[in-house]
Amino acid sequence: MILRRGPAWWQTALKRGSRVMVLTFGDAVAGYANVGRNRAKGLPFEGEIYELYLRPEYQGLGFGRRLFGDARKELVSAGFDGLAVWALAANEPALGFYRAMGGLSVARSTETFGGRALEKLAFGWNA
Ligand SMILES: CC(C)(COP(=O)(O)OP(=O)(O)OC[C@H]1O[C@@H](n2cnc3c(N)ncnc32)[C@H](O)[C@@H]1OP(=O)(O)O)[C@@H](O)C(=O)NCCC(=O)NCCS
Repeated sequence: MILRRGPAWWQTALKRGSRVMVLTFGDAVAGYANVGRNRAKGLPFEGEIYELYLRPEYQGLGFGRRLFGDARKELVSAGFDGLAVWALAANEPALGFYRAMGGLSVARSTETFGGRALEKLAFGWNA
C-alpha cells in the first residue's frame, strides 16, 4: 500500500485537510496513518482514521498500537471528539487489531472495489 501511494495522492490528501503521520525506522518508512474529519455523517464520531498501514516486516511488533495512539492524539489535538475507522470485513487481522485497541463495532456497509462489492465494518471510540 505504501508503494501504491505516489506524490500526487499525498498532495491531494494534504490539500483536503488530512493529517498524515509517518513512522520511520532508521531511514526506512515503516508505516503511516492518515486522519481527519469523519466522512460518515451517520456516525457519532467527529474524527476518522482513513488509513493505518505498516509494511509487513514491521507488523506484529507493537508499532500499530503506537501509530494508532499517535493518530488518536492527533485527532484530539485537532479538536475532534471521538473517532471511527473502517476495515474490510474479510481483513481479520485488522478487525482483531481494532478490537484490541478497544474499538466497538458500530456500523456495517459495502464498498465497490474493482467492480466487487466488499463488506466493511466501522469501529468507534469515544474521545
Ligand atoms: C493492522 C495493523 C495496523 C496492526 O499493527 P501491528 O503493529 O501488527 O499491531 P501491534 O503489534 O501494535 O499489536 C497491538 C495489539 O493488537 C493486538 N493484535 C494485533 N493483531 C491482532 C489480531 N489479528 N487479533 C487480535 N489481536 C491483535 C496485539 O496482540 C497487540 O496487543 P497487546 O499490545 O495487548 O499485546 C498492521 O498489522 C497492518 O498494517 N496491517 C496491514 C494493513 C491493514 O490491514 N491496516 C488496517 C486497514 S483499515
